Amino acid sequence: MNDRTALVTGANKGIGKHIARLLAAEGFTVYVGSRDPERGRRAVEEIGGAARLLVLDVTDPGTVERAASRIDRLDALVNNAGISPSLAPPTETGAEEFRRTYETNVYGVVTVTNAFLPALRRSPHPRIVNVSSGTASLTWSTGPNPQFTPGSGAGAAYRSSKAALNALTVLYAQTLAEDGFKVNALAPGLRATDLNARAATGGDPAEAAQGAVHLALLPADGPTGGFFSWDGTPVPW
Ligand SMILES: NC(=O)c1ccc[n+]([C@@H]2O[C@H](COP(=O)([O-])OP(=O)(O)OC[C@H]3O[C@@H](n4cnc5c(N)ncnc54)[C@H](OP(=O)(O)O)[C@@H]3O)[C@@H](O)[C@H]2O)c1
Repeated sequence: MNDRTALVTGANKGIGKHIARLLAAEGFTVYVGSRDPERGRRAVEEIGGAARLLVLDVTDPGTVERAASRIDRLDALVNNAGISPSLAPPTETGAEEFRRTYETNVYGVVTVTNAFLPALRRSPHPRIVNVSSGTASLTWSTGPNPQFTPGSGAGAAYRSSKAALNALTVLYAQTLAEDGFKVNALAPGLRATDLNARAATGGDPAEAAQGAVHLALLPADGPTGGFFSWDGTPVPW
């Protein structure tokens, strides 16, 4: 199909912009989700091809509904927009910071996914990719072979929000399985982006984007309700 469409939220920079670029290169008409029109316009120009601006703030249901009303059919939704306000442990994180983080990383995904479900249902092969984080893996957080420094409880709001996103991934996958949907979570790995205070040590965000595109292009016999690293290997919950 040459008329496939995709929406990537938070695609004006970082990993999301790379995902949008790669999907455009695959022949998709890509809606570049951006809460700021000017930042979004610049990204659309950079991506080129069949990139289109779609202004939406995932925490503002009105903007999401307006954006959804413009799209007739959607083949791939990449819930990429995310924030990580601090690396504090839970003992030093107020409920307000949890709330703010969950507004974007959890409730924002629900708002966007539910708003675009009618358009996704018009696709013969609907795919949803939730950009999660390996730091949300409870298995990796508790050992025996953690992929990152264990035991610190750091980044509590962010990591728990992505664990909630993982749970939602399973629940959406189960709910939508009979309608041909594939819903999976991606662990992009540590990447050098604005989100990441440790950006200097992070890898190329373009590499992580390939993992999202792989999940957006899954064949009919591909997995659903899974958690995968950018290189396609399963991540333990
Ligand atoms: N970088 C890493 O090492 C890493 C590791 C694991 C997971 N991730 C995940 O990867 C995803 C992309 O992160 P990134 O590293 O590329 O970060 P980034 O460069 O900071 O990009 C985040 C994107 O999300 C957008 N965004 C934030 N809040 C939004 C909202 N309310 N509505 C719409 N868009 C919003 C930002 O828009 P503005 O420009 O307007 O702020 C930006 O486009 C996130 O979900 C993140 O949790 C990243």
